[in-house]
Amino acid sequence: MSRDRSVDLRAATSADLELLYDMLLEAFNWDGTARFTRDEVIADAHTAVYLGGWRRVDDFGLVALDSGSPAGAICARALPASSPGYGYVADDVPEISMAVARGHRGRGVGSALLAGCIEQARGLGWRALSLSVEDGNTGARALYERHGFVTVGRNGGSDTMLREL
Ligand SMILES: CC(C)(COP(=O)(O)OP(=O)(O)OC[C@H]1O[C@@H](n2cnc3c(N)ncnc32)[C@H](O)[C@@H]1OP(=O)(O)O)[C@@H](O)C(=O)NCCC(=O)NCCS
Repeated sequence: MSRDRSVDLRAATSADLELLYDMLLEAFNWDGTARFTRDEVIADAHTAVYLGGWRRVDDFGLVALDSGSPAGAICARALPASSPGYGYVADDVPEISMAVARGHRGRGVGSALLAGCIEQARGLGWRALSLSVEDGNTGARALYERHGFVTVGRNGGSDTMLREL
């Protein structure tokens, strides 16, 4: 996919769970080291909250396609204070997770996914989106800031960022 070509996006469905786990694993292992295994991401209580039972009625997200094949994905889920994600802000603020497959990075796919998800959330009536970005993940942080996310908190070695809609 060339940089100037528009990115094809479609809504993420219940059939995309495996792809979303692939992307969630990439997001947790963003620095290229295998800190988490796929089994850990699925089983660990802190990470299982993001996709367990996908797709619930309030879940939403997008899949980016390159010539019909998945190139990346973003998912969003409102998590309660009783079982929060790393980027928890409030019960009525969905937290997003995203990743682009390695061979597709740097061509605007992540930007298209994020812009699309912001539009999805606005259309669904959510007031804001949140996320967690770990210290050192400068590429992701630059992307988030360009799309209007601002840092509102700290959780361990990560910033919590919020995008009002
Ligand atoms: C972060 C990520 C989703 C960005 O997706 P992408 O398709 O490569 O991003 P884009 O091509 O749309 O780039 C958008 C902007 O992001 C920033 N960016 C992306 N990758 C970057 C990198 N490696 N270094 C510096 N900036 C980067 C730039 O600001 C870029 O701006 P530009 O358009 O002027 O080049 C992707 O690199 C990825 O999947 N990383 C691993 C998983 C991850 O970190 N997920 C987020 C966890 S919080």
